[in-house]
Amino acid sequence: MDYKNKVIYQIWPRSFQDSNHDGIGDLRGILQRLDHLQDLGIDMIWLSPVYCSPNTDYGYDISDYYSIHPDFGTMDDFDALLAECKKRGMGIIMDLVANHTSDQHPWFQACLNDVNSPYRDCYYFREGIGSKEPNNWISMFGGSAWTKDPLKPQSWYLTTFTPHQCDLNWENPRVREEVANVMRFWLEKGVSGFRMDVINTIAKQPGLPSWHPEKKGYQFAKDLMTNLPKSHEYIQELIGKLSQDFDFITIGEGMMADNDACALYAGEDRGELNMMIMFDLHLQDCGPLGKYDFRKLYHWTIPGFKSIIFRWQSDSQKRNYWVANYMNNHDQPRSISRFGNDSRYRIESAKAFALMNLTLRGTPLIYQGEEIGMTNCRLEKDEWRDYEAINIYSTLQTMMHLPKFIAKKVVQRMTRDHARTPVQWDESDYAGFSDHQPWIKVNPNYKQINLKQDLGLETSICRWYKQVIALRKAYTALNTGIMKPVLKKSQTDPRLCP
Ligand code: GLC
Ligand code: CA
Repeated sequence: MDYKNKVIYQIWPRSFQDSNHDGIGDLRGILQRLDHLQDLGIDMIWLSPVYCSPNTDYGYDISDYYSIHPDFGTMDDFDALLAECKKRGMGIIMDLVANHTSDQHPWFQACLNDVNSPYRDCYYFREGIGSKEPNNWISMFGGSAWTKDPLKPQSWYLTTFTPHQCDLNWENPRVREEVANVMRFWLEKGVSGFRMDVINTIAKQPGLPSWHPEKKGYQFAKDLMTNLPKSHEYIQELIGKLSQDFDFITIGEGMMADNDACALYAGEDRGELNMMIMFDLHLQDCGPLGKYDFRKLYHWTIPGFKSIIFRWQSDSQKRNYWVANYMNNHDQPRSISRFGNDSRYRIESAKAFALMNLTLRGTPLIYQGEEIGMTNCRLEKDEWRDYEAINIYSTLQTMMHLPKFIAKKVVQRMTRDHARTPVQWDESDYAGFSDHQPWIKVNPNYKQINLKQDLGLETSICRWYKQVIALRKAYTALNTGIMKPVLKKSQTDPRLCP
């Protein structure tokens, strides 16, 4: 399947459109809004996870890979959505979370019921060192990456995200077999492919050693858990097996994957993935410890922004790999507020980002709401919904000794909840997302910023998206052409930098 000429739209279903008056977006809601997506010129919808999940990480903790979360509807609703998309010439890309399962998954439940369960080897259960964890790895959301095993006093299991997301041991062939089964199940239904969540962390350094054990506290063990050579073997095996029977697209999400890693995961002749999601742009105003690194005020600059884009464009061209470009997703604050201007130049910022993202070499991903210029939303502590925000807030205080009000500021700047407020469709109550109090706050600016309003403006952002998507499709050079940087070293007016 040609993956280079597609324009992909990401839906984070919980906040897209509610159809049954419970304040939670759902599959029938998406069905109601397909006209909008078709009108934009979208080829594929990437659905963030819609499977059964206890929602500690809103769907990225899956308890049943073969069924739909009741909040989102039923399998019949899914089939209806898929059929309607097909009718309109659009495909669906599923989010495949295969680095970990929820602790509610039957495999993990079996581990908790029986200390001799064979499923224990599908995860990482390890003896601790004295009363301490087996190693010093930090979780991506703060605190230790290990969770105590309730069956054995000295034992722990690996949870590199929330304590309810248990890392799968891909060395075990049963795990690899099951991931293939899950993919087969959805491919047989007719989905067009997968966005593969944190796919560069599926292999861990054998023996799970500590990272810089001489250092105090938990450490980010990046080199021991990302981009290990084995991860390539696993992916080649998986894709090799499935591509004999199916034609599908794969988009890899590699946590902080750099050019070298992406050249391997998405190299054209590697038999691995079609493309990798680019991270660097969104790490610009972050410290080495990530988004919530508060030790300095990290700033991005326009020359920095430009050099990242040029580097990725040139390198992917030179080494023949493919990237997925994006300005927004469910893990990042809204770009207009972060890299643009969300008041006076909101429309201009939105259009500039759209033009860049949709004309770069690589497959563009558009995230719900960016086509109407949605912005960050100020959220007070009791309005935070994301585990990351809530946990980092306490980690910043307990581990880093930050005063409460600063910890709150740090979280409010970068929380993923900014991207997860309901899509603003019109100026009616709850922005036309629902007629019931939504599960998360609606951005109070919805009366001014919404699709209906936007379409009535001469300066419409949405129509701009539509035009640029059409332009991309009209000129093959925009899909497969060569990118040559110009004005590489030009001085930028410092007043333009925030
Ligand atoms: C990916 C997802 C993110 C999730 C994490 C753990 O980075 O995009 O939302 O929390 O993986 O599954
Ligand atoms: Ca609903």
